[in-house]
Amino acid sequence: MDIDDLGNDIEKVLVSEEQIAARLVELATAIDEDYKGKDILLVGVLKGAVMVMADLARAIHSPVTMDWMAVSSYGSGTKSSGVVRILKDLDTDLSDRHVLIVEDIIDSGLTLSWLVQNLRSRGAATVEICTMLRKPEAVKVDIDVKYIGFDVPNEFVIGYGLDYAEKYRNVPFVATLAQHVYS
Ligand code: XMP
Ligand code: MG
Repeated sequence: MDIDDLGNDIEKVLVSEEQIAARLVELATAIDEDYKGKDILLVGVLKGAVMVMADLARAIHSPVTMDWMAVSSYGSGTKSSGVVRILKDLDTDLSDRHVLIVEDIIDSGLTLSWLVQNLRSRGAATVEICTMLRKPEAVKVDIDVKYIGFDVPNEFVIGYGLDYAEKYRNVPFVATLAQHVYS
């Protein structure tokens, strides 16, 4: 899928396909360096992280295994509350594992800070975070995000795994949607 397939749904492209690809190589290089001699367990958060996971895992040279979680954060309206429910848990025992959480976007940071605590409590040796995108709100929470692709403005974004009503996940770039899509 590319921009020509999207009619006039896209308002503005914030991060291009080329920018994503180049940034992933930089992140993977840093990860290879930081985890030298260690086996990495990549934990993807469904469904948004599918694209980042697929591309990041292939850019990393170190041996990795992959596992997936699905969580839902309850909240009134569109903001997450920090109350998280596990919809699909990991298949992997985390004892002494080096866990790298792979996320599409960190917004309030509440979901991720819950997840980090949860995975630490299972006996992981280390738990770090790699997110493709970060919104400004996330900067306010006390959460150490080791690998960040891009900072984006505080607007709703779609593409590269991110959806609006389950659509646009297969858009290869990150963009904002035109107003008509919402009405
Ligand atoms: P937190 O807890 O960091 O929540 O507020 C992060 C989760 O919220 C979703 N999210 C978005 N999804 N476009 C999306 O498609 C966005 O702009 C956006 N902002 C937050 C997403 O599920 C993420 O994992
Ligand atoms: Mg979503």
